[in-house]
Amino acid sequence: MDLASLYRWPEGPWLRTMMVMTLDGATVGADGLSGSISGAADKRVFMEARRLADVVLVGAGTIRAERYKPMVTKSTWLEARLAAGLAPAPQVVIVSGRLDLPWEEPLFSESALPVIVATGTEVDPAKVAEARRSCGGRAFRR
Ligand SMILES: NC(=O)c1ccc[n+]([C@@H]2O[C@H](COP(=O)([O-])OP(=O)(O)OC[C@H]3O[C@@H](n4cnc5c(N)ncnc54)[C@H](OP(=O)(O)O)[C@@H]3O)[C@@H](O)[C@H]2O)c1
Repeated sequence: MDLASLYRWPEGPWLRTMMVMTLDGATVGADGLSGSISGAADKRVFMEARRLADVVLVGAGTIRAERYKPMVTKSTWLEARLAAGLAPAPQVVIVSGRLDLPWEEPLFSESALPVIVATGTEVDPAKVAEARRSCGGRAFRR
């Protein structure tokens, strides 16, 4: 099946949301993770949605639970991304109020682009400083 044409991005900036759910409404399996309720087809669609995305926007709860791997340039994605004028890999943006994130994870040190953390104005400045150190200077308060 030609997933690329089925999941083509429309013109202009778009936010695409995606999740997997069981028939009885669960969003995670017995291990507390979404991978255990995802089949091969789900994983293909998930990767297709990322293949030409500028940004992967993730909630902090998901980062704490799922321990995302670093977002790196995939050789199978590179040609299409560069032809579309995109960065070699998607930018990860994490939304967090508490900034209680697993900063030691390779996601923060090995992603192709420094991870961006979006947070609020009430957060402890020491936590913001820690986030900035862990993200190569990129943590934003709004
Ligand atoms: N089935 C699927 O497709 C799928 C996909 C992804 C994740 N999951 C599962 O979903 C679970 C995580 O869900 P979750 O409910 O924790 O949701 P989440 O969206 O991953 O994270 C929620 C967190 O986002 C931050 N946040 C949300 N709104 C904010 C705001 N306005 N300002 C600042 N921060 C804000 C808060 O972070 P802080 O607590 O840091 O302040 C909040 O705790 C995990 O078990 C994961 O495995 C399932």
